[in-house]
Amino acid sequence: MEITKIKAILSGKNGVELLQAIAEQYPGQVIFSTSFGIEDQIITDWIGNKKLDIKIFTLDTGRLFKETYSLWSRTLERYGIAIDTYYPNTEEIQNFVSQKGPNAFYESVENRKTCCYIRKIEPLQRAIKGAKIWITGIRAEQSLNRHDMEYIEYDEVNDIIKIHPLFDWTFEMINSYVKSERIPYNVLHDKGFPSIGCAPCTRAIQDGEDFRAGRWWWEDQSKKECGLHVTTK
Ligand code: ADX
Ligand code: SF4
Repeated sequence: MEITKIKAILSGKNGVELLQAIAEQYPGQVIFSTSFGIEDQIITDWIGNKKLDIKIFTLDTGRLFKETYSLWSRTLERYGIAIDTYYPNTEEIQNFVSQKGPNAFYESVENRKTCCYIRKIEPLQRAIKGAKIWITGIRAEQSLNRHDMEYIEYDEVNDIIKIHPLFDWTFEMINSYVKSERIPYNVLHDKGFPSIGCAPCTRAIQDGEDFRAGRWWWEDQSKKECGLHVTTK
């Protein structure tokens, strides 16, 4: 199976070497999704410094923090790279907001999932079309759910192989690497936001709370994934 082959190729490799090996193995077929989170910034640094053959893309939901847009600009300046940007389908988002209002996600889980579908999932499907390998900044420590994943997995929903090069890194490792390498990061990370999504759906966390406690904080723990990383049908 292809995953076994990739694991053999990547065996013993970490970080930038791992990315380099996968980009060489699948030229023009590797993509990386960034939400400009602290993990994503490390991966962007590796791709940007080595000019690896990996397409970087982001899904602009239209509801990001102003600090995220500012980091996005700083990242472009620093690395001189292109970041392909995907937007929600105009008609779908117009209809949804016209019918339900701008903050419908607080009213029901169904509305929240529809908003995430229109603003992230459908654009994601366009972004990853034709690619073979999808790189993300997911780490095991981020949630119980993610703990059970592997650093490489087959995503049967999107028919693509996902690789999470920082899967085993702790938050402390991430933080100290970003600081020692002077990688630009979101100022919100220093204000109690370890995990940053859309502005209306993310709050700061208190000491002792989970990494993702500030995401969709008004919902049950069990429902707190937006669907970007659901890999089984
Ligand atoms: S989410 O599913 O809850 O939104 P999270 O914020 O933890 O995901 O980010 C995990 C990874 O998903 C990121 O490292 C990035 O690869 C990808 N991702 C999340 N949001 C976006 C986005 N808006 N645009 C591009 N990639 C994203
Ligand atoms: Fe909509 Fe919130 Fe999902 Fe962003 S995180 S797409 S604003 S529901």
